[in-house]
Amino acid sequence: MAARSLGCGVWRLLGSLPGHAGARGWPPRGVSALRRAASGPSGSVPAAGVQPASYPTLRVQAAQQPAAFWGPLAQETLLWDTPYHTVWDCDFSSGKIGWFLGGQLNVSVSCLDQHVRKSPESVALIWERDEPGTEVRITYRELLETTCRLANLLKRHGVCRGDRVAIYMPVSPLAVAAMLACARIGAVHTVIFAGFSAQSLAGRINDAKCKVVITFNQGLRGGRVVELKEIVDEAVKHCPTIQYVLVAHRTDKKVHMGNLDVPLEQLVFDYQPGDIFGCVADIGWITGHSYVVYGPLCNGATSVLFESTPVYPDPGRYWEMVQRLKINQFYGAPTAVRLLLKHGDAWVKKYDRSSLRTLGSVGEPINQEAWEWLHKVVGDSRCTVVDTWWQTETGGICIAPRPSEEGAEILPSMAMRPFFGIVPALMDEKGNILEGGDVSGALCFSQAWPGMARTIYGDHQRFVDAYFKAYPGYYFSGDGAHRTKGGYYQITGRMDDVINISGHRLGTAEIEDAMASHPAVPETAVIGYPHDIKGEAAFAFIVLKDDAGDSDMVISELRSTVATKIAKYAVPDQILIVKRLPKTRSGKVMRRLLRKIILGRTQDLGDTTTLEDPSIITEILSAYQRHKDKKATSQ
Ligand code: PRX
Repeated sequence: MAARSLGCGVWRLLGSLPGHAGARGWPPRGVSALRRAASGPSGSVPAAGVQPASYPTLRVQAAQQPAAFWGPLAQETLLWDTPYHTVWDCDFSSGKIGWFLGGQLNVSVSCLDQHVRKSPESVALIWERDEPGTEVRITYRELLETTCRLANLLKRHGVCRGDRVAIYMPVSPLAVAAMLACARIGAVHTVIFAGFSAQSLAGRINDAKCKVVITFNQGLRGGRVVELKEIVDEAVKHCPTIQYVLVAHRTDKKVHMGNLDVPLEQLVFDYQPGDIFGCVADIGWITGHSYVVYGPLCNGATSVLFESTPVYPDPGRYWEMVQRLKINQFYGAPTAVRLLLKHGDAWVKKYDRSSLRTLGSVGEPINQEAWEWLHKVVGDSRCTVVDTWWQTETGGICIAPRPSEEGAEILPSMAMRPFFGIVPALMDEKGNILEGGDVSGALCFSQAWPGMARTIYGDHQRFVDAYFKAYPGYYFSGDGAHRTKGGYYQITGRMDDVINISGHRLGTAEIEDAMASHPAVPETAVIGYPHDIKGEAAFAFIVLKDDAGDSDMVISELRSTVATKIAKYAVPDQILIVKRLPKTRSGKVMRRLLRKIILGRTQDLGDTTTLEDPSIITEILSAYQRHKDKKATSQ
């Protein structure tokens, strides 16, 4: 990297010479080095009162004592990781050109970090855009952030030191950040004028054997639109070395995204600069960590901190907040959706939700009815609904539909597609990998990704046992999943929530999903309990809507719904109506608690500190007692 410093030094020197176009702001930084160079031996401190060296003096010194001239300049202007030991070692007769020998630096650090440390809000770039009067100012801090994000993205996509990256972008801050991002990770950039044709672009990519192209959807020049992405698509057909095309947006137009393409904007929620990101999770939960605090703030987003509950002061709270804060992305838990759905559509429709673009769900399987409600009622059939699957241990979203892809199919109640770097494998009971579509098994991952957990604090063996023992060589999530014929993933629930009824294994979530399709039933929880004949039977807890009507009728309809949707054997033997389900603060139903109540193991309920409202235990216990009494009298 030593050679890069020369360009930078020359730039500074030119900027400091009187009469040069860039001579404003004299004396610039670096001039003291020049004075020193002119007034004493290399690196010596000038005596007080030394006059600035004149241009002729400097010129003579640069010609006659290159080391004394350039050495102090390079030292003062650039940030060296390793200082050079020799400024200059050149000999034209043998073609030896050596500058700053032994020194190492990263030019992006010299360009950005040193200024961010001193004055982060100084303007680094003024982007005079195609349309007059729409200029944008980018500070050093912003440029460093974008550069680092891009550098990380490039690394995540396999770009290493020495790899070549083609930048096919018009003049823009993002193109600058792309250059600096390459420099930051030691990749070599080749910036290709964004007026070149597909053929010229392909030729340049092939000459350099580039791994990645970075481009925009479209460019704007002289009031004309240039279809950059289309040109790249055409070019990369002839470029076998290209592994990824990173696509940013200069205009609003959505472009076709193919297999090689990676959108540069936030990827699951389609976050755009200036958006208001509303993740309503508590920060005491991983979703709050990753999607209220770390994720949004690292990306310079505006993140909403929600202190309240979805029903305070009334069930319109979320949507009133969406209207007032103009939230663009709303990210919450299915449990809240089911709760609100129970209160009816009027609470939603009362408020303007036109700012919303993406509605995210996390934490539990989202049943069809809740998904449809979110889509049709909250999102007016206009917003993208993303069912995102992940875990505390995974750090961030692992499986999710990706709405920023133009024309990407999104199916209800399905997490669908593995995220970048996530390689799922479904396993059968014997630990064999299930290939192809229409298969269900244990959801594992065959490859590590940066955000995943590294250990369990103070007990690494427990970490190994919990996640890597069941399927050696794989991370086991503890969840089951189904892969459709189309290759999409649908989470079926925790593996320990699988029950075996008369030899039929099925996830309790499947029964819950079938029952929740009944219009009067917003929430259910199904558990297995021992049964003399069937081995295990299903016990269902259900919550009814306020206007559900005749509850006996609903129960008999539920039985036939499950029989029709799944099979007769899946019909719960017992169905108990409760006012609400026991939930953690993060909205997960504590099925373990329900199981213990049914098994009569109330002395041994385990850790109940995460319950949102501990009084639910006595509430469920007495409902169950009444249920048992009723059964006893009817027998
Ligand atoms: O069973 C899965 C369920 O939540 C579990 C992870 O819970 P936790 O570590 O508390 O993290 C919650 C926030 C990510 C998973 O093992 N889960 C999470 N998201 C989904 C889900 N189940 C089905 N569909 C989802 N989208």
